[in-house]
Amino acid sequence: MRFEGLSIKKMDVHDLDEVLKMESSSSVPWSKKMFIEEMQNPLAHCFVINMKEGPGGRVIGFICFRNVGEESELLKICVHPQYRQKGIGKRLMRFYTEFCKSKKIKAFYLEVDASNRAAVHLYQSFSYEPLAIRKKFYHGRSDALLMVRKA
Ligand SMILES: CC(C)(COP(=O)(O)OP(=O)(O)OC[C@H]1O[C@@H](n2cnc3c(N)ncnc32)[C@H](O)[C@@H]1OP(=O)(O)O)[C@@H](O)C(=O)NCCC(=O)NCCS
Repeated sequence: MRFEGLSIKKMDVHDLDEVLKMESSSSVPWSKKMFIEEMQNPLAHCFVINMKEGPGGRVIGFICFRNVGEESELLKICVHPQYRQKGIGKRLMRFYTEFCKSKKIKAFYLEVDASNRAAVHLYQSFSYEPLAIRKKFYHGRSDALLMVRKA
């Protein structure tokens, strides 16, 4: 399905109610304070994707990452459950990689729960490759998979 009227913009405090609702189902959820600190961190970048709805817009996903030198680390990517498997995640990842390429980023890193099939599939489709595994990293149960993509 193709969505019309999607736009990506910098996250601000007014987006946080919607963002926190989506974030609440994360295995390692960030608090409001953590998002605010991230938005204030000069090395960090947080964006939301909006869908035009009525006179305004609705936040249907977000992405947060940090860039240091020529390296980037993806910290969070999330799509509202109602809008998953419709290409929004890919849209956010495309935005992220293009944004970073314009900043001369050469290596992309991330850590993901190895059992998160949707996320692992998404990252593989953006040429991320496995780098290492941290056994039983999440709540002493599932493994963390570290992945890298070279630009
Ligand atoms: C991971 C996530 C961002 C993907 O977003 P999405 O909008 O559903 O992804 P897309 O529709 O763009 O799909 C991207 C690819 O992943 C695949 N995919 C999506 N959900 C999947 C699922 N549940 N199982 C298997 N593959 C899946 C799609 O088929 C697509 O593959 P393709 O390119 O081969 O067709 C979304 O599932 C999500 O928000 N999950 C909760 C938060 C999370 O786990 N974030 C990652 C860790 S921080």
